[in-house]
Amino acid sequence: MAQTSKKEPLTGMQSTDYTLEPDTLVWWTTPVLRRSFVNVDAVNQELKELVLERAANTKNIPKSNYGGWHSDEDLLTWGGEAIAQLQQWIVSAFQDLTNITGGGQVYDGKVELNAWANLNRRGDYNIVHTHPACVWSGVYYVETGDPPTAEHPKSGVIEFIDPRAGVEMVAVPGMPFSQTKSAAPNSGDIIVFPSWLKHFVHPYWGEGERISIAFNIRIRPDL
Ligand SMILES: [Fe+2]
Repeated sequence: MAQTSKKEPLTGMQSTDYTLEPDTLVWWTTPVLRRSFVNVDAVNQELKELVLERAANTKNIPKSNYGGWHSDEDLLTWGGEAIAQLQQWIVSAFQDLTNITGGGQVYDGKVELNAWANLNRRGDYNIVHTHPACVWSGVYYVETGDPPTAEHPKSGVIEFIDPRAGVEMVAVPGMPFSQTKSAAPNSGDIIVFPSWLKHFVHPYWGEGERISIAFNIRIRPDL
């Protein structure tokens, strides 16, 4: 028979930990925000035109992209109403995520935000990477292009890798470790995640363009 006794609560609980059963806690969870904005068509059309114009006239900055075109990281200085609206959407998303996961603590620092455009065409993808020296990173989808098909069910899908060291070695019933998480986004979606979370984007197999805007957020002490 199982022995039970009253124990002192375990210490170190964070706002993102939770109780699965009265005596079973879940620690070190990873918060990810996924949100779909509405009435995005006019903004997305303006963003698309801006990105296509830049892509035609400036060189690719190779980063995690294999193929495709990656802009410089100054997108938020390009100007116009669509860029201003995008910045507002990004700020509201990461501020909500910070507040939800912050456990009521407030950080008095300076926020730095930079963003860049990704233009992928047929066969282009992004290799596994993180975003070093940042707090939150994310992506807003301007134009997701043609959706995945039965032949290419992961076309354009972003996939996240379990970040916990060694989890791939552990086999238990149900395997709650080492599984990837993925999303087939729609135009107008935003995903925000911790910058240390490894991720990649599967090759896009549609005929149209696929345009996304990625961003990094840094929080620095207010010196
Ligand atoms: Fe990324």
